[in-house]
Amino acid sequence: MEEPNLDLFLQREKDIPFVNRLISTCLIEEYGDPSAPENITNLLDYYYSKPDSVIFVLEVDSFFAGFVWLIESSDVVVGNKFYCVLYIALEKHFRGRGFSKILLEKAVEYCRNTGDIQELRLTVRKENEGAFNLYSSFGFKTYKHEMKLKL
Ligand SMILES: CC(C)(COP(=O)(O)OP(=O)(O)OC[C@H]1O[C@@H](n2cnc3c(N)ncnc32)[C@H](O)[C@@H]1OP(=O)(O)O)[C@@H](O)C(=O)NCCC(=O)NCCS
Repeated sequence: MEEPNLDLFLQREKDIPFVNRLISTCLIEEYGDPSAPENITNLLDYYYSKPDSVIFVLEVDSFFAGFVWLIESSDVVVGNKFYCVLYIALEKHFRGRGFSKILLEKAVEYCRNTGDIQELRLTVRKENEGAFNLYSSFGFKTYKHEMKLKL
């Protein structure tokens, strides 16, 4: 089979609808239908408005395949700056071909080359085994546990 042609670049204006649709679909699949669908739109608008929001888009043979979205943050206690992987996703028909590693590698490289950034952090749900394995294979380690009590 012929090798696909891959293009990885910073999100352009025209990629926004693709990113928004994919992230919305993934969030709904993971968390269920939102009680107020406009909440997702508001959430995306909020993150787009952040000055240190960086999105890389991957195209495969000129088709939108997925994205990784980074946002800068800082630890208020320790005072260090870090980037967070806000979300990474691939279109369903582009999954299982290792493309997520290309996106995550780009995210890591970007953070390494960005001044005083010392860490890349992310949150992943326990049930999301594929994503958890992806992150573990890059060397991410669990550093805290988020817990909840059902009431
Ligand atoms: C998470 C996601 C980006 C991974 O992309 P993918 O195309 O499915 O995964 P890849 O083919 O690139 O595989 C990369 C690595 O992830 C892990 N992985 C991916 N799918 C897996 C699965 N079903 N089971 C176990 N490990 C899996 C493996 O470590 C794999 O490396 P390997 O093939 O060398 O073993 C993709 O499944 C996705 O878009 N999911 C929906 C959105 C989402 O959950 N995002 C993460 C939010 S935290």
